[in-house]
Amino acid sequence: MSQDHRLVVTIDGAAGTGKTSVARELARRLGTDCLDTGAMYRAVAVIAVDQGVAPSDGKKLAALVTEQGIRFDWSQSPPPILLAGKDISVRIRDLDVSAVVSVVAEQSEIRKVLVEQQRKISQDHPTLVTEGRDQGSVVFPDAAAQFYLEAAMEERTKRRLLQLQESGTNTDALTVENDITSRDKIDSSREDSPLTCPSSAIVIDTSDKTMLEVVDIMERVVREHLATLDHA
Ligand code: DC
Repeated sequence: MSQDHRLVVTIDGAAGTGKTSVARELARRLGTDCLDTGAMYRAVAVIAVDQGVAPSDGKKLAALVTEQGIRFDWSQSPPPILLAGKDISVRIRDLDVSAVVSVVAEQSEIRKVLVEQQRKISQDHPTLVTEGRDQGSVVFPDAAAQFYLEAAMEERTKRRLLQLQESGTNTDALTVENDITSRDKIDSSREDSPLTCPSSAIVIDTSDKTMLEVVDIMERVVREHLATLDHA
């Protein structure tokens, strides 16, 4: 890909729709960096759990995030997330962190700080694939390509369970499905930046598709867009 274009690709969708793996593969194919914004909300949830702060105390958590600093180590791919310089990439996936992260993500003070950081990251990484819930709708409404992923609940549960088991977490399908259902409810009904499909997003149902098939569709769209820029 020619590096003189500024290129932001957004991928939004609910938990377990496959955003993280497709975003990483798409970024690899395009030779860009990949931003997991859910990891940033999870890092704030780690502060809440480990430092004994109520997940609903947006003001205090926003101050602590600013003070302690969330960073990604861009020298690695995918980049580990660091809190106060410490790698917390594994800790952010723990169930006690997942259990409070939606409440953390409801807090406007926290969203404000993290959205600012996400826009700053895009300035430092002019070509970026970024995934989350509000990347196309709120953070990068002018992104070159926007995607919105959907998947059936059964499939989402299966994927999340496998992901957790692979990282050594001992859990079962019912616990995972309950976690997804309750997070869906909070993520879609919160006042600030609820999960919505951006009006110009391409919607992909990933239920019956492999990760590589989904990325093939996305890559085609992005390369077509780049070709029109090359000919402009
Ligand atoms: O994608 P994930 O499960 O790692 O996201 C963790 C939580 O953060 C989830 O409850 C939704 C929230 N989130 C958000 O509100 N906005 C984003 N851009 C990314 C995640």
